[in-house]
Amino acid sequence: MQAQEILRSLRLPEFDEFSQFFRSVPAATLVGLGAFAAVIAYWFASRPKAVKPPCNLLMQSEELEGGGGTRHSVLGDGPKLLTHYYDDARTMYEVFQRGLHISENGPCLGSRKPNQPYEWLTYKEVSDRAECLGSGLLHQGCKASSDQFIGVFAQNRPEWIISELACYTYSMVVIPLYDTLGHGAIRYIINTADISTVICDKAEKAKILLENVEKGETPGLKSVVLMDAVDQQLVERGRNCSVRIQTMQEVEECGRKNRRSPVPPTPDDLSIVCFTSGTTGNPKGAMLTHGNVVADFSGFLKVTESQWSPTCEDVHISYLPLAHMFERMVQSVVYCHGGRIGFFQGDIRLLSDDMKTLRPTIFPVVPRLLNRMYDKIFSQADTPVKRWILEFASRRKEAEVRRGVIRNNSLWDKLLFNKVQASLGGRVRMIVTGAAPASPTVLGFLRAALGCQVYEGYGQTECTAGCTFTTPGDWTSGHVGAPLPCNFIKLVDVEEMNYFASKGEGEICVKGPNVFKGYLKDKEKTSEALDQEGWLYTGDVGKWLAVSHFIWYCNFHSSDTSADQLTDRIAETIDIKSNHWNICRIGGQCHLFQEI
Ligand SMILES: *[C@@H]1O[C@H](CO)[C@@H](O)[C@H](O)[C@H]1NC(C)=O
Ligand SMILES: *[C@@H]1O[C@H](CO)[C@@H](O)[C@H](O)[C@H]1NC(C)=O
Repeated sequence: MQAQEILRSLRLPEFDEFSQFFRSVPAATLVGLGAFAAVIAYWFASRPKAVKPPCNLLMQSEELEGGGGTRHSVLGDGPKLLTHYYDDARTMYEVFQRGLHISENGPCLGSRKPNQPYEWLTYKEVSDRAECLGSGLLHQGCKASSDQFIGVFAQNRPEWIISELACYTYSMVVIPLYDTLGHGAIRYIINTADISTVICDKAEKAKILLENVEKGETPGLKSVVLMDAVDQQLVERGRNCSVRIQTMQEVEECGRKNRRSPVPPTPDDLSIVCFTSGTTGNPKGAMLTHGNVVADFSGFLKVTESQWSPTCEDVHISYLPLAHMFERMVQSVVYCHGGRIGFFQGDIRLLSDDMKTLRPTIFPVVPRLLNRMYDKIFSQADTPVKRWILEFASRRKEAEVRRGVIRNNSLWDKLLFNKVQASLGGRVRMIVTGAAPASPTVLGFLRAALGCQVYEGYGQTECTAGCTFTTPGDWTSGHVGAPLPCNFIKLVDVEEMNYFASKGEGEICVKGPNVFKGYLKDKEKTSEALDQEGWLYTGDVGKWLAVSHFIWYCNFHSSDTSADQLTDRIAETIDIKSNHWNICRIGGQCHLFQEI
């Protein structure tokens, strides 16, 4: 996962508006001493029980017999790796159909105009529009086959998902394009993947694509489909360079008249090619099959099944870029269970308003956002008394969390934290963080303050998204959990840096049905990342902890990441207040390690 890109595309520096979230937090904090005593008494009286973890937390993974240090999750079917969770959901097409059936055509995709409530498309409406769009594309010359690549160049919105589903319905493959790739990379991707059709959201993006065609740099691009309205001048400009410009509605109409039956993919067919850019060289397109994606989110379902079963009532807030697998994974879980996805308005500064309106139950985050929340809450406690109360309350709740109790109805919640929870809509029951290491201090505090399950994962696009994940009940921080039941993990010596697998340290290698199929048309980079036996070499260094979960250090030899960029990445992720982390430089490369 390219944390830097997610952060860049979120434009988090503008996130100051987030302060609105927590404006009135400590107003109710000044309680008298008598009340305070009552609080303590109440707390002891109403102490709830901890949830039972799904395994012995001192043994979260075990070594594969004769596997040379290879470990696997204890939550799966022994050493047999998990490929799917539901027999009727083995491709992304089936995942969506499953949601349609079990939700009985419930609401699926929601969006809103400023200050308006959310408006919803039902599952049937979404799948119907996807079939029309797909049929329209086929009628205009696309092939129903897994070597047909369709570019999608848009911010998160319902049409993104409709486009994606249109591809899956006819075994075509999605290639997300996004602003932060840069123009050169977009050109490269269109040429490398031979993309003739791109679906984009706004006229500006169409213009970027047309410029390339006008300069003769992407001669293969023949068709641009716009989600927004199209003006005549743009159509003419397209015609001048032989690019057909239409609205999505037009293509859907065309497909409605020339309807084709679905041509569903198999689990081994490609579903998506995710390009990530580095500072040097061309972007690399990780090829992921339907089976890869299904295996990865099935691993997540397996790990969390004892505590958390998603339902049709679940609501997800979509604001992290869809071009990255992290967001796509969380969404897949929601579709698979017939839940609904509400999109933010497209402006991160309005996220808090969107959340209060949508009242999501699932909230994926990146660590920087967590840091921001943490800072805001503490900066509100601006007198020593307030601060003391906040710290006392969070210590009490953190102690509860350490015993495995996650709740939002303790007296501390009633006094302080319910306000914070309300600023996220008041219904969040699961937070997932990934993309970069989260600060243990911040994670520990927010687990207490938000009163919901907070999970942390580690992974990269090459293993679809995640390969390790928090084991429920292990609410300690400072590690990234145990291997997912869909993959093995082993560590490999990095001699030049004195990491030795025999000491439980080394380069993290991943193998399993969630590991990608290589980089599109790039044998050399593929053979650097994948060995003969199918092990993915992540380029990250990790260390096994005694309880056989995992600390993730930082990327160490990624050829396309400069040391400075890594420093940035580290500074982004550990920010303030995380004095547990240290940075050191080794041989011009940057390392992040953690004191335990
Ligand atoms: C298309 O080409 C014609 C003839 O070369 C030119 O007059 C016209 O301005 C062009 N239109 C656009 C929108 O660029
Ligand atoms: C507590 O969490 C549950 C979901 O887990 C939610 O339904 C409820 O509204 C929350 N209560 C408060 C006071 O936030």
